[in-house]
Amino acid sequence: MTSPLLELEQLQIEAACASGRIVAVDGIDLSVGHGEVVGLIGESGSGKTTIVRSVVDLLERNVEITDGRMRFDGEPRFDRSAGVDRRAGLRGAGIGMIFQQPRASLDPVLRIETQLREVIGANEGRVARRVARERSCDVLAATGLDPVRVLRAYPHQLSGGMCQRVAIALAVVSSPRLLIADECTSALDVTTQREVVLLLRRLVAERSMSMVFVTHDLMLASEVCDRIVVLRSGRVVEQGPVADVFGAPAVEYTRQLLAAVPRWAADSGAVRT
Ligand SMILES: Nc1ncnc2c1ncn2[C@@H]1O[C@H](COP(=O)(O)OP(=O)(O)OP(=O)(O)O)[C@@H](O)[C@H]1O
Ligand SMILES: [Mg+2]
Repeated sequence: MTSPLLELEQLQIEAACASGRIVAVDGIDLSVGHGEVVGLIGESGSGKTTIVRSVVDLLERNVEITDGRMRFDGEPRFDRSAGVDRRAGLRGAGIGMIFQQPRASLDPVLRIETQLREVIGANEGRVARRVARERSCDVLAATGLDPVRVLRAYPHQLSGGMCQRVAIALAVVSSPRLLIADECTSALDVTTQREVVLLLRRLVAERSMSMVFVTHDLMLASEVCDRIVVLRSGRVVEQGPVADVFGAPAVEYTRQLLAAVPRWAADSGAVRT
């Protein structure tokens, strides 16, 4: 049996605050298989962002992993007891990340073509301008954008939905093995949210990626995820295939999360089986 693409074991993450240390992530085990889409759900402050940021070495300065292990593609990337921390090289070809605010991931003063070329260069070294342009056109077209128009545009000339598609293009242009999307649809209107989620699902399948999809929106999670991990106060309270967790939740907390979604009861057929 091949090992999972991403494996977190007993990961503990703490934040230093004026009042002392906060345990943000309290010994979680989490794995993401090859080609698998795993949804992280749970109330605000449950640790979702902290977990995914720890994977790409983007924790804030006062936050650190204090215990546990992380493996990516079978390689140890973090092991507290062995003194290993090799997470820095994981972005780019290894892991692509999409954030909540589409405009925040784009540089306001650079044309989209330049931003895509810079990302390709940063991840893959020197690539001929013509090749970078072809790759950029392909990836923009794959996200449903008109490459000719978008390549020469600045971010302020694009709508929020278009910016999020560009952010997705930037995250996938170097063909990462794992895509992490942290609330990447919550700044968008409902119709655009659904389009972006379906786009992600398609790109993940076409490019043989795995994905960690962090969301508050359980309906979207049910459409895009294979497996769901439910977090509460930095701990995993339940995990399993989406149809099991949403169709027959094992714990009261998950039932409460589902009960808080008005459309859920009326449309429980949304769960893919
Ligand atoms: N830089 C920080 N300084 C202090 N505490 C932090 C910091 N980052 C995270 N925390 C704490 O860690 C816990 C988890 O926060 P995190 O942002 O991971 O939650 P979340 O599940 O992503 O929430 P949301 O759904 O609101 O995005 C919270 O209690 C939060 O206050
Ligand atoms: Mg968050």
